[in-house]
Amino acid sequence: MPIVTCIEDLRLLAKQRVPRMFYDYADSGSWTESTYRANNTEFAPIKFRQRVAVDMSNRTLATEMIGQPVAMPVALAPTGLTGMQHADGEILAARAAEKFGVPFTLSTMSICSIEDVEAHTTKPFWFQLYVMKDRDFIARLIERARAANCSALVLTLDLQVLGQRHKDIRNGLSAPPKLTLPNIVNMATKPRWCMGMLGTKRRYFGNIVGHAPKVADMSSLSSWTANQFDLTLSWKDVEWIKKLWGGKLIIKGIMDVEDARLARDSGADALIVSNHGGRQLDGAQTSIAALPAIVEAVGDGIEVHMDGGIRSGQDIIKAVALGAKGVYIGRPFLYGLGAMGEAGVTKCLEILQKELDLTMAFCGLRDIRDVDRRILLPGTFPT
Ligand code: FNR
Repeated sequence: MPIVTCIEDLRLLAKQRVPRMFYDYADSGSWTESTYRANNTEFAPIKFRQRVAVDMSNRTLATEMIGQPVAMPVALAPTGLTGMQHADGEILAARAAEKFGVPFTLSTMSICSIEDVEAHTTKPFWFQLYVMKDRDFIARLIERARAANCSALVLTLDLQVLGQRHKDIRNGLSAPPKLTLPNIVNMATKPRWCMGMLGTKRRYFGNIVGHAPKVADMSSLSSWTANQFDLTLSWKDVEWIKKLWGGKLIIKGIMDVEDARLARDSGADALIVSNHGGRQLDGAQTSIAALPAIVEAVGDGIEVHMDGGIRSGQDIIKAVALGAKGVYIGRPFLYGLGAMGEAGVTKCLEILQKELDLTMAFCGLRDIRDVDRRILLPGTFPT
């Protein structure tokens, strides 16, 4: 068993174990990947104030996100094709999250369907919605999420057009995978992964195939999906979706203070400061840099969450100190999943929890709800 002591160890293990085109799909950003890389590196210049000789006993990381209790202020981000990192990936990740006491968010573009995940979990999870042109399909997806007892809808607004990832094009990434010679050779050298994948009974893109009109099988999926992202999406649609859903609503993909105010005015329960993990607008500001101005702009009118570049507990506490009520992790849990399945996702959460807890102690605090920018060294963080 290899020693796994940080998220980077999980990444390296996943890189060894997951066929290259699927690993690259997760571990890449759009175009030059500048925003993808900076999302993480811009955490480093932010420095802590280390405190000593203060009571650090009885620490707690437990808090709430959108009024729901969480063991620590972390949720699993929605990621499409999660079942490509490991057979039944969505189910395994959802199980690890529920055992740990943090939310799991199922993507519209997942391999396992809403019903698959519901059947294999015991607690409510969150569902992420992309706005498709076919509004009847959206209404049915919302109905399915409600029937599965999903306890929040995460509405992603930053995907009206698609960022391009060079690696996916070079690797011939498609679903099902293109059987080019390099892909066959690569999959054949990862027998553990391939046997697992062949053993899966789940249907690919279970939220869509068999549910969207004229998408009875995989052959018609790509063209349907490509034409479904809605160029005309507006805040009126958000209003319609909010009404239809009627439950907790989180708006994802906010990077601008004006959009943040509109999200607040829409009546949503939370917004996520997110540049889609550097997979959409290459050259966009990093999430951690965008966070403070958005927190200030919306005041107490809406809960602010963030994602993008979180790779350690230190990153989490910096985001919380700058006003995030919670953060989401995308690639870190995908690395865990690719490396070791459910145990890898649990390991990822354990690593982050331990780092977060110890860092909070070094900063002289015992309760995550007391963390604010006073733990940061003035002049080292964005304002
Ligand atoms: C994503 N992301 C994403 N977001 C979303 O709203 N719906 C989706 O289906 C996907 N799919 C997806 C696939 C993969 C492989 C990745 C890596 C990301 C974006 C995701 O929710 C989140 O915003 C980022 O992953 C956060 O950045 P980190 O934690 O990966 O650095």
